Amino acid sequence: MINEAQNKLILALDVENLTECRQLLSELQGELKHVKIGHQLYAKGGIPFLKEIMAMDYKVFLDLKLHDIPNTVRMAVEALAGEGIWALTLHGAGGRAMLEDAKAGRDKVGGEMNLLGVTVLTSMNNELWEEVTPGCAMSDALKARATVCADAEIDGLVCSPLDLPIINETKGKNLIKVVPGIRPSAGGDDQARTANPKGAIMAGADFLVVGRPILKAPDRLAALHTIVNEIKEGLQWKED
Ligand code: C5P
Repeated sequence: MINEAQNKLILALDVENLTECRQLLSELQGELKHVKIGHQLYAKGGIPFLKEIMAMDYKVFLDLKLHDIPNTVRMAVEALAGEGIWALTLHGAGGRAMLEDAKAGRDKVGGEMNLLGVTVLTSMNNELWEEVTPGCAMSDALKARATVCADAEIDGLVCSPLDLPIINETKGKNLIKVVPGIRPSAGGDDQARTANPKGAIMAGADFLVVGRPILKAPDRLAALHTIVNEIKEGLQWKED
């Protein structure tokens, strides 16, 4: 039985190939429920691989961050909505019409697939942001994108743990909050806006996306247990 803390963890399956992914998924069976497939494995395995993962009793989070004209996104969502996928990402920067059309596509097919809007990538620091968005405060963009996601009535948001207080000032606070950029201790990779699992849960995250802290650990199961225990502490804090 998956407990509440395990259920809040989404493992990012950012591994080299399908064989390695299958091996990892069988090692971790019963330890968590949600797994995230990104562009790389989706390119290699497509829908049949997603079905294989679902048959192992995992829920699939397909992280394609769709960002295109509304009609193109709607057609892509329609193609995916009936496949039993738990959640699909769209980019919040795509704007209201794109998000509304995506939802219309999902609703037309009638599947259960959650649509999650990415606010600002967790790898963006202020310097990278300013370079492509001169004169716009990141916090203003976050608020605007979270509000547009709520107005378009999609199901959730993807944001940095550090952005949760800002998001919670907007209508976006009522959406499911899926939070990458989780680091149990200080790390030196491309993630810029991070928090530990307990802090992210305390700040209002509903699900945590974790990749490298588990994938690159010498003992992946032990690393997973450490993270789940920290999630448990965060949940306990919320109850008290
Ligand atoms: O290895 P790490 O824990 O940094 O993995 C985080 C995962 O979350 C990656 O697969 C990355 O693509 C994804 N992600 C992110 N920031 C977002 C949305 C998704 O890091 N805003």
